[in-house]
Amino acid sequence: MADILLKVSDLEIKAGDTTIVDGVSFELEKGRVLGLIGGSGAGKSTIGLASLGHSHDGLQITGGRAELNGRDILQLSKRETRTLRGATVTYVAQSAAAAFNPAHRLIDQVIEATLWHGLTGRAEAIERAKELFALLGLPDPKNFGDRYPHQGSGGQLQRAMTAMALCPYPELIVFDEPTTALDVTTQIEVLAAIKQAIATTATSALYISHDLAVVAQVADEILVLRDGRMVERGSVANIFNSPKKDYTRRLVSLRQTEKPAHAEARDNLLSIVGIEAGYTPGTSVLQNVSLDLLLGETLAVVGESGSGKSTLARVVTGLLPASSGRLRFDGQELPGALAARTSDILRNIQIVNQIPRPGAQSAPDRPGDPVASPRLLFRAKGCRPEPSPLCAARPD
Ligand SMILES: Nc1ncnc2c1ncn2[C@@H]1O[C@H](COP(=O)(O)OP(=O)(O)O)[C@@H](O)[C@H]1O
Ligand SMILES: [Mg+2]
Repeated sequence: MADILLKVSDLEIKAGDTTIVDGVSFELEKGRVLGLIGGSGAGKSTIGLASLGHSHDGLQITGGRAELNGRDILQLSKRETRTLRGATVTYVAQSAAAAFNPAHRLIDQVIEATLWHGLTGRAEAIERAKELFALLGLPDPKNFGDRYPHQGSGGQLQRAMTAMALCPYPELIVFDEPTTALDVTTQIEVLAAIKQAIATTATSALYISHDLAVVAQVADEILVLRDGRMVERGSVANIFNSPKKDYTRRLVSLRQTEKPAHAEARDNLLSIVGIEAGYTPGTSVLQNVSLDLLLGETLAVVGESGSGKSTLARVVTGLLPASSGRLRFDGQELPGALAARTSDILRNIQIVNQIPRPGAQSAPDRPGDPVASPRLLFRAKGCRPEPSPLCAARPD
């Protein structure tokens, strides 16, 4: 019979009267990786933390068991739980940048739990950490730990946090969306490093993600969750090739969506030709970038961190005039500088930022509904209050 490391049965977690996790059961065999997948709010993190014997403030574990090596960790005393966490079970969070203490060198944080639990001496823990840095593909692994968190990139910090989780030779690691905050290419590299580290150390893991393609890379089996309930469980191949439930089918097909080709010819809405743009004279972030965006279409701009995606958005919205190249919008020359654009152009080209600026929605000295305020502004500038012909013409 397979050697079961973690057996969760009929887990029920509530926030007051609301049931957050409803009758979830699964088993994790030693040396295997189980992927927990589901949309935001499905209960993945809550289940992951319960597997470490923890629940956030405001939540109560009201039923079920979580047995680690046959012992129910939901029934342990605080003291017993402390001897478990950071030693037998460890955790990798979504944002290592937020989880690391900025005031301490990485090496001290990576070995802290190992030392606290008295698992090895300091010299041995440091050696282990350096080996793990190398295994995880960190640069200059012998000296990497001398850095402070701000001296590492997002991807490097996720690798360092994985080293921290592996350092005490745990039996179980819970990875809670460890690559979600990274850009696409870094995500692939970090995922490959994590996968290799798990395999090399033969550690069992719960791998949580909202992205089925990510989970499929690293997990042996997948458990699909929705609104705190189990939808379906199976091997990666089964979930991908023969999903039984509609919800799983939708998750799988989301990855394979093919957009129908447009039959009719469409007008060019935005045309960019040979743009150069940058922030310091003589250096260009964007070099000879050209694109055509057709009316009613969506154009995806994809690239790793620092490749110039936001800079391109700034050029289009007029926040950063290009140093050379041409822009056309709606059949007319589009001036590079914001100040040279008409109110109608400003109204027609809008931006949605990655992080809404705190306070932007609630400037106290501006009366009225902040969502409506741009409309009032443009009306004051003489823009047409009715929908623009561009919107009206949008084919759907
Ligand atoms: N401390 C808390 N108090 C109350 N409700 C919570 C708390 N933490 C999470 N929840 C709720 O539990 C549900 C599951 O959350 P979570 O486990 O974080 O989901 P996921 O990780 O799948 O996005 C959500 O509806 C969330 O709002
Ligand atoms: Mg979560």
